[in-house]
Amino acid sequence: MKMWSGRFREPLDPEFERWQRSFAYDQRLLPYELAASRAHANALEHAGVLSSEELSEIVKALGEIARRAESDPAFLNDPEAEDVHHFVEKQLAVQIGATGYKLHTGRSRNEQIATDLRLFVRDSIDTLQNLIADWVEAILSRADAAGNAAMPAYTHLQPAEPVLVAHWLLAYVEMFLRDATRLADCRKRANLCPLGSGAVAGATLSLNRQAMAAELGFDGPTANSIDATSDRDFALEFVQTLSLLALHLSRWAGEMILFSTPAYGFVELPEPYSTGSSAMPQKKNPDLLELVRGKAARLMGCAVTLETLVKGLPLAYNKDLQETQEPVFNAADAIIAMLPLVTGFMNTVEFNDAKMNQAASSGFMNAWAAAAYLVERGVPSRLAHEAVGKAVALAVERGCDLQKLSLADLQAIHPSFDAGFHSCLGLTEVLTLHDVPGGTAPRHVKRALQNARERAAALRAVEQTATR
Ligand code: ARG
Repeated sequence: MKMWSGRFREPLDPEFERWQRSFAYDQRLLPYELAASRAHANALEHAGVLSSEELSEIVKALGEIARRAESDPAFLNDPEAEDVHHFVEKQLAVQIGATGYKLHTGRSRNEQIATDLRLFVRDSIDTLQNLIADWVEAILSRADAAGNAAMPAYTHLQPAEPVLVAHWLLAYVEMFLRDATRLADCRKRANLCPLGSGAVAGATLSLNRQAMAAELGFDGPTANSIDATSDRDFALEFVQTLSLLALHLSRWAGEMILFSTPAYGFVELPEPYSTGSSAMPQKKNPDLLELVRGKAARLMGCAVTLETLVKGLPLAYNKDLQETQEPVFNAADAIIAMLPLVTGFMNTVEFNDAKMNQAASSGFMNAWAAAAYLVERGVPSRLAHEAVGKAVALAVERGCDLQKLSLADLQAIHPSFDAGFHSCLGLTEVLTLHDVPGGTAPRHVKRALQNARERAAALRAVEQTATR
């Protein structure tokens, strides 16, 4: 039986009927639908609508649906089910007859789908926090192992200043730790229970909303029934956060691709995560990185789809909202599949320390340190900049590094250059010069590493709620 056939004299156009169903994709919400139905059944018994025998019959039947769904994939092949809510109702009717139809008393699918989706988002966030912790810890291990290895940092993609490889890796750690805090924040707002909101105006029975919320691990009931049945902010925030995470991954992937080209040679692609060319026998291609870079497009697309769906949508529930499900699933699936792969990649990729160090030691990346040296001797910054600029021009002309210019040549440019100049231009000295928290001086990077480790470990400690 349909959930709404009484009012209709004509059957639905069969093609339309098939087309409007969501069961093909919302069946993955079944565990949440069953948990929420159990909470609703308990509230119905408490309100005196169900006898305790009816409640236990319903609860038992819900458990049986869960069991069969797990053990028999064919169980979900129901050509008639309109959506996951209809499927459960049909199954209850098969198992316990008319008592099954009592479960829907005082509730609406509008609050059910809002509840199921919130539970899905919450579960996904809990999974993601652990995956992000794995990923961040993989980066941190590489940063640890890099020790005092150096590499060039770029601005405008031109060599700028040398930095520790660990400092570069920690830049990515910051991005992903921010993503994790965004997810945690999104979880707080998502973790409220719409049950009891009815179709739009609130339940017509005195259902204990606090108890339903508590049973499902929510922090409490939602505040407004109109909002609760039409709100998809939690889904939007979730997917927007995932799209930002995907953007961060794409920046990392883009840079790794660049660094793996022979022109840089900083990174040796791990064979287990690379592919060859069917045409050019010499090729080893960064397919994993390229797909990671490309997936960001999908994630951004999901976020834009959700934004467009709710834009201008009048309150409260509209069937348009059924279209919010797939982008949420699509986004969660894409990131949950991707994070373990980038973690595996990070654990096996080789960094060519010698090449990175060499690149960090040439190309006048010590010019700022040279200017700082003059400033320390009382030369105004702008004039020091000018003097070192001239020294660089001279070195370019001679085809040598700054350190190779003679003291006489340097003093002809500015009298404040003295004998100590050459010894302040080595890689170690230049790195140590950036001696501020957040800078690349080794002692600060060491502390930053420790601090990031603590924040990554805290991701695993956060509260998680099992729904099943
Ligand atoms: N499958 C529907 C959805 O995902 C469930 C809610 C249906 N509500 C309704 N009033 N038709 O949006």
